Amino acid sequence: MSTTDLPNTDLSNTDIPITGPDTTLPSAAEMNDAFKLVDDHAQRIFTWKYDRERDQLVTLYNKAMASQWNSVTELDWATEVDAEREANHNHPTVALARVVAEAPGSPLKNWSEKEFRQLALELQKANLSQFMHGEQGAMMVAAKIVETVPWIDAKYYASTQTMDEARHTEVFAKYLHTKLGDAYPMSPFLEEQITVLLEDSRWDIAYLGMQIIIESLALAAFGDLLRTTEEPLLKKLLRYVMADEARHVAFGILSLGEYYQELTEPELKDRQEFMLENTIRNRSRASTPEVWERMGVSFEAVLPHFMEAIKSTGKSPLSGFQRGFFAKLVPNTRKLGLLDANNGYLREQWGAAGLMEFEFAEDTASDYEAYDAVASDRAAATAN
Ligand SMILES: [Fe+2]
Ligand SMILES: [Fe+2]
Repeated sequence: MSTTDLPNTDLSNTDIPITGPDTTLPSAAEMNDAFKLVDDHAQRIFTWKYDRERDQLVTLYNKAMASQWNSVTELDWATEVDAEREANHNHPTVALARVVAEAPGSPLKNWSEKEFRQLALELQKANLSQFMHGEQGAMMVAAKIVETVPWIDAKYYASTQTMDEARHTEVFAKYLHTKLGDAYPMSPFLEEQITVLLEDSRWDIAYLGMQIIIESLALAAFGDLLRTTEEPLLKKLLRYVMADEARHVAFGILSLGEYYQELTEPELKDRQEFMLENTIRNRSRASTPEVWERMGVSFEAVLPHFMEAIKSTGKSPLSGFQRGFFAKLVPNTRKLGLLDANNGYLREQWGAAGLMEFEFAEDTASDYEAYDAVASDRAAATAN
């Protein structure tokens, strides 16, 4: 690179050395790889009403302060992790890959145990990468809620959530980088879902999308991983993250439950449509093609074989997880009054998709205390 390629930036009065590799600024393409710009169309609200009017939000905020945990001192980062051994070798996608490998003309026909083990590790990395990117999205959405919600109690609470999500982003990034290896890019599905929330001008849509849909999704996904891992650092990290997430869902239910009582039926219909758009109409989640690229297999080549294996075994890699998700989402949505508005429009649509069996599953508004691993660990430590 010649000096004329450098942007016209005067570095003469700074401590930055003006010779050597450090002066090579990132190219426009590299900048595009490193950042994504999102326009936020929302107005920020300053409130002069400092009175605490919402008792349940006050309780939740106090709880959030007491349950903050320290990602540096309360997790044992010295834990040795044998990443390949700790990956979930019974992952449904690994099980399906074994079926695919047996099929005539399969792109996986030469796979040995080594490749199946590598696949399990790549899936673990891909999964944790989505957690990391999703947590960063949650941090930004929570910050947007701080800015746009009119109630002081909700601004306070969302500020604690912003800190929680920062800690979650940080711990997943650190776990990936120090224990597992290279992260994967954000899945286009998740990226689209979060971008829509950041771009929407209505304050409650950020809430509905993040606190109700994505937080329910996160609780189901973390719960899934927690059940299958024995690795102590990851286990503790997940328990602590879930303790925070359960409060975040409760925050959404308390706030939106109140707000939606004031909305008209046509306004509620918009929210019902939003729920449909983000749940059953979006069920065909993109998988992670990069996993196959890293395994040296073309995604296009392997996909039809997977579809065939799903059909023949009757097992979809997402079905258990999806049940976990809807078991959280449906009762939480019922609490908001969104199932029954507009003559039960959402109840009917979700019913047709077979989701109403989850209506009375345990909802997260009431059980966040049960998730509080931080409080129970501290109580146990004091008792000893
Ligand atoms: Fe989070
Ligand atoms: Fe969260």
